[in-house]
Amino acid sequence: MYAAVVRSFDSSPKYEEVESPVPSGEHEALVDVLAAGLHLRVRAQANGSHYTSTDELPLIPGIDGVGRLPDGKLVYFVATDTALGTFADQTIVDLRRAVPLPAYADPVLIAAAMNPAMSAWVTLRRRVQAKPGFKVLILGATGNSGQMAVQIAKLMGASQIIAAGRNPERLRSLTQLGADVTLSLAGDPAAVARNLGEAAADADIVLDYLWGEPAAQAMLPILTRRSDRSRLLTWIQIGSVAGADAPIPSAALRSANFQIIGSGQGSVTPAGYLAEFPALIQAVADGKLTANPVVYPLSRIEEVWKTPADSQQRIVFVPHNK
Ligand SMILES: NC(=O)c1ccc[n+]([C@@H]2O[C@H](COP(=O)([O-])OP(=O)(O)OC[C@H]3O[C@@H](n4cnc5c(N)ncnc54)[C@H](OP(=O)(O)O)[C@@H]3O)[C@@H](O)[C@H]2O)c1
Repeated sequence: MYAAVVRSFDSSPKYEEVESPVPSGEHEALVDVLAAGLHLRVRAQANGSHYTSTDELPLIPGIDGVGRLPDGKLVYFVATDTALGTFADQTIVDLRRAVPLPAYADPVLIAAAMNPAMSAWVTLRRRVQAKPGFKVLILGATGNSGQMAVQIAKLMGASQIIAAGRNPERLRSLTQLGADVTLSLAGDPAAVARNLGEAAADADIVLDYLWGEPAAQAMLPILTRRSDRSRLLTWIQIGSVAGADAPIPSAALRSANFQIIGSGQGSVTPAGYLAEFPALIQAVADGKLTANPVVYPLSRIEEVWKTPADSQQRIVFVPHNK
């Protein structure tokens, strides 16, 4: 079979002929991969920088995908925690990490949508009790995950969605997806933080895809403008496109009812993710969530890998289309 193979964390994956894997455990099966998304998490896996990296090489990247089981069933599945990922004609699926898809589901759409969508979906269902009518600030709302977060917050009953991002055109498009307020992250950082403070003073939840300086700078301006500082603000660290570390002001944690938590692999159990997948898959398959896939044959991975990713589109590889 053919697969994308990473042999060094410094270079892009190469399309190579490799041995087909053989299932061994009682919960394992060989799956034909129909579609797999190139998520930021996959890039971090392939360059060894993700916090789950074991440094094992060679590595077939790809963390999830849509595949067909030997009995013909279509599933969405999350890859096993091994060097055998989903960017391959075939891979091993742990059946405990696979969820059946409705027959009408589009494999490419599911492969594009699940990773960015699960960030907000799982967070709002598993990491925080989002009460109906909650007010949410989405930091980094113009990326694939942020756009999903806007739509999912709406589906889950948010009464106010404040979407903040850099790209003006994409920011404007978020209104059609459900954002009540859009706010630019471009320009003078102190002015941006002040604007965030004014717009999001009464937010209940922050879904933070940025972290780094922009997150740290926005905290006090938001907290000090709250009409009731005893009202809880839960800041949820989900992504770190603006920096892996953030200098959190100590006063933020004293001056208001403020908590910072995270959401990702580890803070939510695999069983917790699995339990959320059927409803999320249904929402995607039924067109309640919009994703923007762009499809490439896996054979073109080397060239696609080097092209800067468009953050409004999610690249999806289809292994069998040569
Ligand atoms: N924990 C989880 O469950 C989970 C799940 C999925 C994703 N994530 C994480 O969430 C983050 C976003 O993922 P994604 O799928 O949305 O990626 P994406 O589609 O590539 O989008 C990245 C976004 O980040 C913006 N950005 C990059 N650097 C920025 C900066 N310095 N300041 C402000 N905005 C910046 C980009 O804005 P421009 O368009 O202006 O360039 C773009 O909108 C990543 O860190 C990813 O690993 C976490």
